[in-house]
Amino acid sequence: MNGKLRVGIIGAGGIARSAHIPNYQNYGDGVEVVAVANHNKDKAADCAQEFSIPHAYEDYRDMLREMELDAVSICTPNAFHAEQAIDSMQSGCHVLCEKPPAISSCDAERMEEIANHTGKHLMYGFHFRFRPEVETVKRFIDEGEMGEIYAAEAKWNRRRGIPGWGVFTNKELQGGGTLIDNGIHMLDSALYLMGYPEPKTVLGVTYDKIGKRPGVGLLGEWDHENFSVEDMARGMITFQNGASLLFESSFAANIAEKDDRVLKVMGDHGGADVFPLNMYQEKHGTLLDLTAPYVDKGNAHKEMVHHFVDSILAGKETNVHANQGTLVQRIIEALYESASTGEAVEM
Ligand SMILES: NC(=O)c1ccc[n+]([C@@H]2O[C@H](COP(=O)([O-])OP(=O)(O)OC[C@H]3O[C@@H](n4cnc5c(N)ncnc54)[C@H](O)[C@@H]3O)[C@@H](O)[C@H]2O)c1
Repeated sequence: MNGKLRVGIIGAGGIARSAHIPNYQNYGDGVEVVAVANHNKDKAADCAQEFSIPHAYEDYRDMLREMELDAVSICTPNAFHAEQAIDSMQSGCHVLCEKPPAISSCDAERMEEIANHTGKHLMYGFHFRFRPEVETVKRFIDEGEMGEIYAAEAKWNRRRGIPGWGVFTNKELQGGGTLIDNGIHMLDSALYLMGYPEPKTVLGVTYDKIGKRPGVGLLGEWDHENFSVEDMARGMITFQNGASLLFESSFAANIAEKDDRVLKVMGDHGGADVFPLNMYQEKHGTLLDLTAPYVDKGNAHKEMVHHFVDSILAGKETNVHANQGTLVQRIIEALYESASTGEAVEM
């Protein structure tokens, strides 16, 4: 790499504009977003103009061929992640790919293989790991303050939060609904805190009771006629090391809370509720509450993008590993399989 890190963006929609582009641009002198590609050329051109990006492309392959990029952010619907990530790595780029890795575990495995083969970073957009609450609990766990983490709970339920834009309710383009979209963040955060143990058995159930009816909520009015994904997913995962994880997420459910995230880890010497942060620890035979009066709200998307750039510039591994993306994708696939067969999946 000579001079600045040259970054290209694939997909000029919501997350590219709100999280990726601004956070490359506020990194400082070491980085420049030099091109953006979107299969709709006007959208690419609008985005380039809004963010003063010098080049706009309709076909990301032309961008990869012509722009001598060092890194790429992939911000397209889930069905395109694998092909675009693989093409980008094979063109010599490090990749920050939005979550989920892909829509199948085969694709995620292939992406991991190409990352290993090319030696390029393949980092996924699991930005919750960069929330100060998650980082704090992770430090306590890594220092052994909570003992062995043997149980966890990961939930993200929205009362009425079915996305009213994009393709989030299109199974073919997204691979699923709430589980693979918002649920994956809590699943990844729980697995991260648990040390990404190897799964043993996965039991899942999904529902689509609300999305197929007309409605409006937190994220606008949804397209009930073409709603082809689940609006609720629930599951239980057991791991080879004996640990277990309860999971639940919804785009819509008849509950009191508008947007409710629960992330709990339980160890044999301590535990934590992550949102909001409260930790518990046994000391000298007594269980104590540990409160942190000052928890910075942070900006997890900014931390994530800056961490990706820092890792490239320093030649260090990112803290989101491609094999973790593959593992979470395998679990998601097993939850869907179990929901469709009604049987638990042995991993
Ligand atoms: N980490 C997060 O907080 C977060 C939040 C929202 C979305 N996401 C993820 O980001 C991705 C995009 O979501 P979004 O909200 O930006 O959606 P969006 O619909 O706002 O934007 C997607 C963009 O990709 C473009 N596009 C579609 N197919 C393309 C192709 N084949 N090649 C190039 N461009 C193409 C669309 O025209 C659109 O501009 C999804 O994978 C989603 O899961 C992550």
